[in-house]
Amino acid sequence: MIIHSAKYLISSPSFDKCPPADKPEYAFIGRSNVGKSSLINMLTGQISLAKTSATPGKTQLINHFIVESSTSQKNKQQWYVVDLPGYGYAKRSQTDRRRWEQMIENYLRKRPNLLQVMVLIDSRHVPQKNDLEFVNQLDKWEVPFSLIFTKADKEKPGVVTRNVQIFLDTLKVTWQFLPQVFITSAQKKTGREDVLLFIEQNNLRAAENEMIG
Ligand code: GTP
Ligand code: MG
Repeated sequence: MIIHSAKYLISSPSFDKCPPADKPEYAFIGRSNVGKSSLINMLTGQISLAKTSATPGKTQLINHFIVESSTSQKNKQQWYVVDLPGYGYAKRSQTDRRRWEQMIENYLRKRPNLLQVMVLIDSRHVPQKNDLEFVNQLDKWEVPFSLIFTKADKEKPGVVTRNVQIFLDTLKVTWQFLPQVFITSAQKKTGREDVLLFIEQNNLRAAENEMIG
């Protein structure tokens, strides 16, 4: 995939205020500070498209970006990237947390063009309770998702592989099918081609099915 442009579009407080559902959409979500904004910038090749910060809990709205790309066969594609506010931010009030849950649940379950949720997991850690709870929730809602392990440059490859394996083993206890997995580093651009190819294939499938666009 070749990215031609990526632009910020709009930040929406709820799913019904989002832009027209007329393009394939990929939403990025995960714990606060897991590296969502950094990954979006790395994938789109724009250093400061999504705001990154060392202070967690910055993103509070549904942030839409529009991307124009083309496949190796020169087919043009237009798709949305969504940067969602992270979960598990300790300093958030109970009321804010509930508001977040409502907004996220509505968006994830009601957005018709949402093709895939990319759940980001910090590759430095063994499975965390809120990550496992979140993917189990997605499974119950039947929302399609993939796992993207982030910050792979910060640990030895052996540690990353082991953490990914433990996460999948934990899911295997109750699940029949495992999601697609990507290992990435925003800093070293690891995994960029794989994630973009996955998006390209989903875009093509959506166009074939004439679901959208
Ligand atoms: P919130 O929107 O606040 O929830 O955070 P986020 O998930 O968007 O994380 P963000 O991209 O802002 O990154 C958080 C911190 O981790 C920043 O200091 C980034 O520079 C750092 N970071 C993100 N990805 C990587 C990575 O792949 N490698 C390294 N070394 N640092 C990373
Ligand atoms: Mg962010």
